[in-house]
Amino acid sequence: MLKGKSVLLGISGGIAAYKSAYLCSMLVKAGCDVQVIMTENATNFVGPATFEALTGHRTLTDTFDRNHEFSTEHVSVADKTDLVIIAPATANVLAKFAHGIADDMLTTTVLACDCLKIAAPAMNTRMYENPVTSDNLKTLKAYGWDILEPASGRLACGDVGKGRMPEPDVLFDAVVQAVSSPKDMTGLNVLVSAGPTREALDPVRFITNHSSGKMGYAIAGAAATRGAHVTLVSGPVAITPPADADIVSVESAQEMYNAVTDRAGKNDIIIMAAAVADYTPLHYSDQKIKKSDSDYSLELARTKDILKALGEIKEKNQTLCGFAMETENVLENARKKLISKKADIIAANTANGENTGFKTDTNILTLITKDNETTLPLMTKEECAHRLLDAILELRR
Ligand code: CTP
Repeated sequence: MLKGKSVLLGISGGIAAYKSAYLCSMLVKAGCDVQVIMTENATNFVGPATFEALTGHRTLTDTFDRNHEFSTEHVSVADKTDLVIIAPATANVLAKFAHGIADDMLTTTVLACDCLKIAAPAMNTRMYENPVTSDNLKTLKAYGWDILEPASGRLACGDVGKGRMPEPDVLFDAVVQAVSSPKDMTGLNVLVSAGPTREALDPVRFITNHSSGKMGYAIAGAAATRGAHVTLVSGPVAITPPADADIVSVESAQEMYNAVTDRAGKNDIIIMAAAVADYTPLHYSDQKIKKSDSDYSLELARTKDILKALGEIKEKNQTLCGFAMETENVLENARKKLISKKADIIAANTANGENTGFKTDTNILTLITKDNETTLPLMTKEECAHRLLDAILELRR
């Protein structure tokens, strides 16, 4: 995947700079042509010669170095670069990248690069959590940068917290991921719903279903990786949300209805992967319902069908995707949902397969549109997510 790619490895002044030598070596071994540019501060932590030995290229540090091959070296390096990774990225260089400040070889060259860019922030926790840094990271994301989440642990300053640069193999995987997934959703707003809902009977009990949220979270993660701005409306689940998505946590079907319909107008693509309860207790008891010796029956009221409501108010150029979770007559039932809910695409799956449905890491999806029906082979939910997004983008063409 990386063979023949020109990678610009930018190193700024942090103690994690020593780890970048491993990353550099991994990239070279994978067949990349790696050009290293260091800030002056970075050279206090690790020597340019280390990277020269690994890459076979002169490590660039000084914009006005008279030994440069070209007179406008920053532009010529930028021209040939397929991917930029800044590791470690200090608060200082992130601020410069976010605001177009170009005052050394690294910042000038990166400003001239119009390719994929990844930054691995590494700094003290309070510097990382400072709103100024958070704003700069948001700005960079809006400009299409991939920002890797720092790890937590003991920092060089002795503090314990978030701010460690991820290990070289994590950075390497991020490079592979960035090269393999196209940024074909940049500029799109995507709303994904995921997980189950909980319908409360009393303060201690609720009705729910087996949804794990894995499929919806995989879709949210895949869309964010492809450059979309993602809002994830999630019922209660036990999995970590993608770092780049805006998370809206809800419990009941009514809360999910409110959260999704409030935001629907701002989104180009809405994917309802949540397993929304169809019924909710008609009466909620403020106090715990006490048992008696006789049987107990529960009266249930219908919840609102969110997807159907979205279908009614669907805007031009908006793409609506629903799921169909079935145990029998899968395709027939799914096609009915496509029509009755005015969706553009339905991803049908079965609840009772061995490797499919709610709790598994894999799934078999059949993608149903007005004109097409495609059954995908068994694959991971992440792969399913990408194939579903491919199909949605195809519909929008
Ligand atoms: N859905 C919804 N609101 C509901 C119920 C379902 O938005 N109250 C959405 C789901 O998120 C999914 C699609 O509708 O995208 C189909 O859900 P599914 O549970 O398969 O079917 P239902 O519409 O609930 O119909 P049935 O239970 O009869 O199969």
